[in-house]
Amino acid sequence: MPQNNLLIAFGGVSPEHEVSVLTAIQAAHALSQSGRTLIPLYITKNGRWLTGEHLLDLESYKEIRQAEEKGRPCHFALDDQGRPGLRTSPAGWLRKPQWISLEAVICAFHGADGENGSFQGLCEIYNLPYTGAGVSASALGMDKRLAKELCRRHEIPVVDDVWIREDHWVREQDELVRQAEKLGYPLYVKPVTLGSSIGVHRVENREALSDAVESSFRYDMDLLVEKAVHPLTEINCSVLGDDDTLQTSVCEQPLGKEELLSFEDKYMQGDSGEAKGMASASRRIPAPISDEKTAEIQELAGRIFRLLGCAGVARLDFLLNRENGKVYFNEINTIPGSFSFYLWEASEMRFDRLLEEMIRIGKKRHRKKNSRVRSHDINLLSQKAVKGLKGLKGGK
Ligand SMILES: Nc1ncnc2c1ncn2[C@@H]1O[C@H](COP(=O)(O)OP(=O)(O)O)[C@@H](O)[C@H]1O
Ligand SMILES: [Mg+2]
Repeated sequence: MPQNNLLIAFGGVSPEHEVSVLTAIQAAHALSQSGRTLIPLYITKNGRWLTGEHLLDLESYKEIRQAEEKGRPCHFALDDQGRPGLRTSPAGWLRKPQWISLEAVICAFHGADGENGSFQGLCEIYNLPYTGAGVSASALGMDKRLAKELCRRHEIPVVDDVWIREDHWVREQDELVRQAEKLGYPLYVKPVTLGSSIGVHRVENREALSDAVESSFRYDMDLLVEKAVHPLTEINCSVLGDDDTLQTSVCEQPLGKEELLSFEDKYMQGDSGEAKGMASASRRIPAPISDEKTAEIQELAGRIFRLLGCAGVARLDFLLNRENGKVYFNEINTIPGSFSFYLWEASEMRFDRLLEEMIRIGKKRHRKKNSRVRSHDINLLSQKAVKGLKGLKGGK
């Protein structure tokens, strides 16, 4: 296994594209003294795969078109011995295609195909070690409805909801409105697979509910209508590990201007004018809650992380009812903004250590996968075997 080339994969066709660029650049910065060569894999907003040193420099993104032109197209490929790596396309007159072997892939995407298991599946197909959750945990983590259903089955508290599919809404709108209203206003309407508060609406009456549902269908064909937790304190907690061992971070209370934390609240609050991604959002660390509440939330976070089969670092978000102290699991981010490094720094772990730990876990999972029997040496289609199969003609 090559020891020195780390691929940092980010960007992608996602509403959280820019946030992912920031996470990737922050990670590259933290790993700059690691003795490794960092190779960017930048997926543009329309899905092109590019590499080139300049893509790990934030300045480049001010002139995005130039940055893209300067980037070299690339793709995953196997070399003559079947070893996976990154192959760049020839660029310019004299430049040959380049082959880059890889130690591991750092998945620094947020949202959509980079976080929902699709990109992770590609890494699996090429048998590349990668950071973070595997295919199924990523898919479950991205789907708020399925994640909540699984939690319900395991008696982890989640807020009551009604699931609305676009085709049901068209056919049975009145019935769905009736079910949603049974939960009682105010309600939250949210796309099942999005993040960063995109398409999330708080509504207080029937007209606003219908408008919000129609509007959120622009983002997703599956929505959840949820009962609002009120009065609300949001508490997040990060988990790092895998099935064997895991640790939980201190808790944070993210702060928004209004009751609903918006995209701007989450990412645009850096006071120095510098883009800091999720690390810039205003928050209280540790969250101003009792030691008992903190322990309860940390225990739930670890349990849910295990239940979904996550790996690497994740951030789990909870809704706390300030009045009665009830805690509900809201959602999991299997690739949290800025990899939640600010929560780990507050838990005595530096960002570079966090990344090293994520890489170690990714490589360990890869080794485990490759130590299992994955194919049979017998060729069922060899001459001899095929003769034996002739009797099956016509059958299936
Ligand atoms: N059931 C709820 N009760 C109260 N507030 C909610 C509820 N659901 C969502 N919110 C508010 O909306 C924000 C965004 O919703 P969330 O489910 O976290 O979606 P996203 O994945 O877009 O972050 C939350 O951070 C919270 O402020
Ligand atoms: Mg959220």
